[in-house]
Amino acid sequence: MSQYRDTAAGTIGSEAVGSTVKIAGWVARRRDHGGVAFIDVRDASGIVQVVADPDVIDEVASLRMEYCVAVSGEVRPRPDGTTNPDLPTGMVEIGAEEIQILSPADALPFMLDDRVEVDERVRLEYRYLDLRRASMAANIAARSKATAAIRRTLDDLGFLEIETPTLVASTPEGARDMLVPSRLREGHFYALPQSPQLFKQLLMVSGVERYFQIARCYRDEDLRSDRQLEFTQLDLEGSFWGQDEVLDTIEQTLVAATEAVRGIRLTEPFPRLTWQEVMDRYGSDKPDLRFGMEIADLADLFESSEFGVFTSALESGGAIRGINTGVRDFPRSKADELTELAKANGAKGLVWMVVNDDRSLRSPVAKFLSDAEIRGVIDRLEAQPGDVLLLVADRWKTAVTVLGALRNVLGRPADHEDLAFLWVTDFPMFEEEEDGSITFSHHPFTTPQDVEMMATQPEHALARAYDAVLNGVELGSGSVRIHDPELQRKVFDILGIDSETAERMFGWFLRALRFGPPPHAGFAFGIDRLVMILQNEDSIREVIPFPKTQSGVDPLTGSPTLVDDRQLAELGITLRPETRTKLEES
Ligand code: AMO
Ligand code: AMP
Repeated sequence: MSQYRDTAAGTIGSEAVGSTVKIAGWVARRRDHGGVAFIDVRDASGIVQVVADPDVIDEVASLRMEYCVAVSGEVRPRPDGTTNPDLPTGMVEIGAEEIQILSPADALPFMLDDRVEVDERVRLEYRYLDLRRASMAANIAARSKATAAIRRTLDDLGFLEIETPTLVASTPEGARDMLVPSRLREGHFYALPQSPQLFKQLLMVSGVERYFQIARCYRDEDLRSDRQLEFTQLDLEGSFWGQDEVLDTIEQTLVAATEAVRGIRLTEPFPRLTWQEVMDRYGSDKPDLRFGMEIADLADLFESSEFGVFTSALESGGAIRGINTGVRDFPRSKADELTELAKANGAKGLVWMVVNDDRSLRSPVAKFLSDAEIRGVIDRLEAQPGDVLLLVADRWKTAVTVLGALRNVLGRPADHEDLAFLWVTDFPMFEEEEDGSITFSHHPFTTPQDVEMMATQPEHALARAYDAVLNGVELGSGSVRIHDPELQRKVFDILGIDSETAERMFGWFLRALRFGPPPHAGFAFGIDRLVMILQNEDSIREVIPFPKTQSGVDPLTGSPTLVDDRQLAELGITLRPETRTKLEES
């Protein structure tokens, strides 16, 4: 294979017994037994056991953990009772004849063993060591397999992979832009792209009919387990396309990536549910379909109830919804905990009921309910003795989202062993911000389903927008785009972006829409999130080779760092006095 080795360590099996091999890798473990050293040597293919006699080979005495070594010797069967059937190389060992130390290693900051829990900051500070661990190496390999499968699929379908700039103009796209000062045009700034959205649309105008890119995107947001400042999308767009073509194509990439990583073939097509349907049934626009616990509409059961909480909700146009959470222990403390959770999600309270053996209810509100109401709830929620039922009366949106949150807390599997992909279609065009103003749900380049409705009742208008969801995680989003500059202006107008502002920020884009743009549609999904779930991890940091911590810091390189005044001066920038003071104090 090379001057350093002729065999991959992890591939040596019984058939190699009797042959002489040369391997190269790292010392993963060393034990000394009866005068000989047992050394596990690891390379990218796996691990093999080397047996060496310190009296014969001088180097053995100085070998420490993670030294980089080359070993030659004869492959022989392991003695009876020392074989390890869990390891591909578990039937053999190499009797070392020569060991060469290629490079030594300092004492390790932590053990590179998957079973040892290490503080994440330390793992990231020594990420190059962390990546030597088997689970991390597997994650990195899985990521490569996923992107390779996606590329193969799209290449076969005739897509062109095209790069778009990463120094772009700042435009509002939802998150805060990351800015880069320009030296050549002092006082001016580039933004790093939140996504290639407008460039891929320009490519459609330019006659590329099938585009994709594995694109790095940048968003200055608060970080979470599934959010980083920079992340990677599969970004895709097609001309003369509607929703069906997008969903079908993206589905093929997800099937190929899943097969490449998990070795399983998903059932197609993925379920397609409308936004209204998933909100009604699961109380979330990214429902986890690995379990049931569906939300039921109970309003009709309580129209003439004695229980004021229910009737007053109905009188003010609200809803009464409930879920059956199944048989579970339900002490008072659990009830209080869930009530607090419901309140934290915006509910005024939570009604809980435990079904007794005689099909009566143990519930603080049982005394307010008629027999017919109790029977009605039990039937509607298909409840059995022991089942715990949770009910919320509120505005429709509050009632379903609170139950959706409780459903997740009570029902969600702890890992990603099973996979449940689905499409959510027909999203609302706009959503309300906390201050009551209205903003776009997806992005402002999305086609409304009904232009008339959009203008007169924007809060009820639906969009040609759709999401892909996997195990309760939003994987990706897309839409059919606006290709009529007049309609684009109308949407800006409703969003409160006046024509002067629109012209200043998007004039270049609106102009392109005046040169025969084809109808087009597209999508982007997060590769980090997809690989995270396929690898059964709970944070995208586990599948990103060099991620930032939750506070946006890279402990390995120290970024972000201070820069010296000369660098700032070249850019025409000085730090504000308050900032300087803060820095001096810290
Ligand atoms: P959107 O903004 O929904 O759509 O992003 C698409 C997908 O990108 C992933 N993602 C992230 N992953 C990690 N860290 C982040 N900070 C982060 N932000 C987003 C998610 C998300 O679903 N241009 C449109 C797509 C289109 O319309 O074609 C867009 O970017 O998985
Ligand atoms: P109260 O009348 O406020 O004492 O509430 C009686 C019970 O109903 C308590 O268990 C509350 O948590 C619950 N509750 C109050 N408001 C709501 C609501 N909007 N939806 C569901 N349960 C509620």
